[in-house]
Amino acid sequence: MRLLIINGPNLNMLGIREPELYGHQTLADIEAMVRQRCEQHGVTPTFFQSNNEGALVDAIQQAYGQQDGIIINPAAYTHTSVAILDALKAVALPAVEVHLSDPLMREPFRHHSYITPVCIAAIRGKGGAGYVEAVDVLVRHLAAKS
Ligand code: DQA
Repeated sequence: MRLLIINGPNLNMLGIREPELYGHQTLADIEAMVRQRCEQHGVTPTFFQSNNEGALVDAIQQAYGQQDGIIINPAAYTHTSVAILDALKAVALPAVEVHLSDPLMREPFRHHSYITPVCIAAIRGKGGAGYVEAVDVLVRHLAAKS
């Protein structure tokens, strides 16, 4: 089983960026936690982060035929990107949406997510642990399908 873990803009700044909202873990710390959980499940993870919307779209497209599922935190593009929504629909891989904070508890402009309707689950407000939970959700989902 292969999972692609995608992180959007400014998530490369975790650890520095607004720690009161996003915590002190760096993206590398979170990726290490995810890698560990993937090893427990015998899953191969691939990590991708970009600040560019088109690069995120390219990464989703390239998952087609290569990956079994996607974990995605599109960051600010959650609230703006029809292109990321369309890419997820195009590849039609099971995807889990993750947010470190809970956007539903924040400013109104963060309340809408373009991708929630095409994701099998959305995990919000659990910090880095949300990504680990997303691995479990996808593994369960894919095991039930096969
Ligand atoms: C975020 C929430 C978004 O609203 C914000 O733009 C981010 C991070 C989160 O993980 O909590 O960059 O996706």
